[in-house]
Amino acid sequence: MTDLHETREVGERRKMADLRTDGRAALEWAADYLDRVGDLPVLAQVAPGDIRAQLPAHAPEDPEPFSAVLRDLDEVLLPGVTHWQHPRFFAYFATSAAEPGILAELLAATLNSVGFLWRTAPASTELESVVLDWTAALLGLPDGWHGHIEDTASTGTMAAMIAARETTGRNEVVCSEHTHSAVEKGARMLGMRLRKVATDEAFRLRVDQLGDLGEAALVVATVGTTASASVDPVPAIADACAAAGTWLHVDGAYAGSAMVCPEFRWAFDGVERADSLVINPHKWMLTPMDCSLLWTSRPAELRAAFSLVPEFLRTPDAEDALSLSEYGPALGRRFRSLKLWAILRCYGRSGLQEHIRRGVALAERFESWVAAEPGWELCAPRHFSLVCFRLEGSDERSRELLERVNASGELFLSHAALGGRYVLRLAVGQMSTTEADVRHAWEVLRREARSV
Ligand SMILES: Cc1ncc(COP(=O)(O)O)c(C=O)c1O
Repeated sequence: MTDLHETREVGERRKMADLRTDGRAALEWAADYLDRVGDLPVLAQVAPGDIRAQLPAHAPEDPEPFSAVLRDLDEVLLPGVTHWQHPRFFAYFATSAAEPGILAELLAATLNSVGFLWRTAPASTELESVVLDWTAALLGLPDGWHGHIEDTASTGTMAAMIAARETTGRNEVVCSEHTHSAVEKGARMLGMRLRKVATDEAFRLRVDQLGDLGEAALVVATVGTTASASVDPVPAIADACAAAGTWLHVDGAYAGSAMVCPEFRWAFDGVERADSLVINPHKWMLTPMDCSLLWTSRPAELRAAFSLVPEFLRTPDAEDALSLSEYGPALGRRFRSLKLWAILRCYGRSGLQEHIRRGVALAERFESWVAAEPGWELCAPRHFSLVCFRLEGSDERSRELLERVNASGELFLSHAALGGRYVLRLAVGQMSTTEADVRHAWEVLRREARSV
């Protein structure tokens, strides 16, 4: 039997890291990292297995100091980090974790609330509702929608698919050929039939190809598709859904944050008629991964699809109504609202608008340089902060260009297929990106293009 007196007094907890001294060092590390991240290669310059090979095969037998963790973070892990906080990260949808969100994550971990019932986390539950209401108002969404936080848009969209299937009793999912693969994956996991509808020359779902929605549980419309940030015609899709009794889910995972600026609201026309909507603050609203918002205008249906309350989770009626675990797949829920609350308070509407507008303005500038340069072409209309472009000529040239540019470590871009062609994507979204960074990216692209 363990001798409780062997190492310490009974009741005395042994702390394996000191929040004051180690915490100060960790915060120094974080601040220093954000200061110097722009000098590191954006894309990790390692091969698969390199990092693992430097790590011990087993956990230590005896305690090590927290300083050893920080040391190995620098010496072993950092070379294997692809730096999403880098000002020249332009791949996928560039994201940012801003300082108020970083600090709030520390506080959320300190509180370690597990919000499966109102009583297990009253503050987390109620702050989440308030933060979703605040965000809905900032984005101009209708009053009275129910909103809660999921980890990712993939989960939120799957929750919408489940609610749609329960509500309609149908099993078909309809989306466009440019809808995010999360929908296809969700349909596969749920055993739902998927029908992809063709898109037009601007990569928007063709409403005249929607066909008969009589069997459709839901249609997924996207405002800001992954490949090109195209905008599906939501009002016409909403008409078709209303006529067929089909659930309308809108995916605004990336572009939804732009609704904070009135000048981009045109793209979200019709979203007020959605049955559900997903938007990711962890993409374009400065919030650390992970934070995806799911709203529904039909909370009773969402709850009916997910509510399952065994005896051990029963509480008095008034509390039951506020268990957010009844609105989605997870039981235990993190205190995610704290970081979004911190972002909303420390940026305010004006700060969020400035972030979005800067990203769009920088993308616009890059687009103008590509348009003016012989031998290059733009490949899709640009609505937000994503530019799709390529070198004239074969796909192979653009593919090789992407490889060369990313290998340089000076910037990181990704690619997509549009209209059967290989295109490069430059997505501005990092909080620290300046015009000099975008200019630098363009110079590296032109330099490397001379060799392909
Ligand atoms: C339009 C769109 N929808 C959904 C997703 C999936 O997001 P998540 O990683 O939060 O599941 C993405 C990711 O980039 C996206 O661009």
